[in-house]
Amino acid sequence: AQRKQIDKVLALFRLTQEQLVGIRNKMRVEFEYGLKKDTHPLATVKMLPTYVCGMPDGTEKGKFLALDLGGTNFRVLLVKIRSGRRSVRMYNKIFAIPLEIMQGTGEEVTAGRGFTLQGASLPSTPSSARPVRLLLSLSLQLFDHIVQCIADFLDYMGLKGAQLPLGFTFSFPCRQASIDKGTLIEWTKGFKATDCEGEDVVDMLREAIKRRNEFDLDIVAVVNDTVGTMMTCGYEDSNCEVGLIAGTGSNMCYMEEMRNIELVEGDEGKMCINTEWGGFGDNGCLDDIHTQYDKEVDEGSLNPGKQRYEKMTSGMYLGEIVRQILIDLTKQGLLFRGQISERLRTRGIFETKFLSQIESDRLALLQVRRILQQLGLDSTCEDSIVVKEVCGAVSRRAAQLYGAGLAAIVEKRREDQGLEHMRITVGVDGTLYKLHPHFSRILRETVKELAPQCDVMFMLSEDGSGKGAALITAVAKRLQQAQR
Ligand code: BG6
Ligand code: GLC
Repeated sequence: AQRKQIDKVLALFRLTQEQLVGIRNKMRVEFEYGLKKDTHPLATVKMLPTYVCGMPDGTEKGKFLALDLGGTNFRVLLVKIRSGRRSVRMYNKIFAIPLEIMQGTGEEVTAGRGFTLQGASLPSTPSSARPVRLLLSLSLQLFDHIVQCIADFLDYMGLKGAQLPLGFTFSFPCRQASIDKGTLIEWTKGFKATDCEGEDVVDMLREAIKRRNEFDLDIVAVVNDTVGTMMTCGYEDSNCEVGLIAGTGSNMCYMEEMRNIELVEGDEGKMCINTEWGGFGDNGCLDDIHTQYDKEVDEGSLNPGKQRYEKMTSGMYLGEIVRQILIDLTKQGLLFRGQISERLRTRGIFETKFLSQIESDRLALLQVRRILQQLGLDSTCEDSIVVKEVCGAVSRRAAQLYGAGLAAIVEKRREDQGLEHMRITVGVDGTLYKLHPHFSRILRETVKELAPQCDVMFMLSEDGSGKGAALITAVAKRLQQAQR
């Protein structure tokens, strides 16, 4: 009877071929919706033009700074590109972003750093009886911190005072009107610093550099991590026309025909579109597969109701789904002797790396138990079997959902080009893809089943998106100079 109850829960995560085809088709509809002028404002898959219009051609050269913000690590990089031989040398340093800066839980400070604005000086406001406390703008804190890290890096590299062109990988949805402008639409994943949404991130960075008044940088490009990844891989393989991230977050970009992008003037050539497919399902179109556990994860997140697909697929949330299932199974008396420990109640205990370890086939059950013990979960042998099954069900669904999304884009590209058969390379990055023992295989299998007329090659980005951001910066800089 216990087995039946467990199976019932696991079954919620099993997707049939028919369901996957349905999801692929719905994703396709959302792509088209986002590309059309009339429907774009309502689109949950945002389909953002990036103003990146071509692949690197090997003539790029120079020394560039790159920032990489929004994945597991915040990095500052120096990228040296030599033309001809396509050789790139990179130096980078990882910096921490304190949680209080990332999530806007920064200390509340009183206005004017020290004095409290008394309500009495604002007689017309209804809350005039209360002292007015202001938050030291968290956007200032975040960007001041970033500039501090750049300063440290320049120091460390012995480049103080150098005036280098900079490419900014900023892995959040931005509305762009050119390659060097990007208005943050909304934060996703683990960020929530106030006062940034609706602002141009390049301006915020420029102003922070000015405030510091120590060095000057020429911010040439702002790019999404999917786009940087596509470019990094595109430098090696010119057939790479899709960038995929399976990491903290979930997203995809691809090269689209200009004639299909109604939001941008012109019909010639192609432009990269940042799909922001993490928002797929926010209009309810995935409700049929959304489980009670997904709902709990959503409600406990920083952005409830948003990024439904991302929350079913990416590293930041998979462990949380697992935790919610384990809590429920424990409540039903099917796990951990029915005792919900404090640990199990703790958000975020199951990081991607633990899921990956638990699911490794090389691991004996005893070792799974040891990992659970490390997490503070005292388990029996049977418990560890169930935990492993739960992890498997959740990560399998994630890989299949990714596969359905990817099948939708490659099929679209094939049809748009009127090809019977198409070969395409997908540049991929992210800890989920890199660390998980089964994710990449299931993703590949699903794409093959759902897009049988496409030959999809996956190319792992070894160098991160910073290299791609530097290449984009090099091209943009060249075009800038040509226009002068
Ligand atoms: C890195 C890229 O390698 O992968 C980042 O340089 C990207 O730009 C990241 O955001 C995605 O993976 P994760 O798992 O760190 O979110
Ligand atoms: C989130 C962001 C997106 C980014 C992705 C992967 O979905 O909104 O811009 O590409 O995470 O990091």
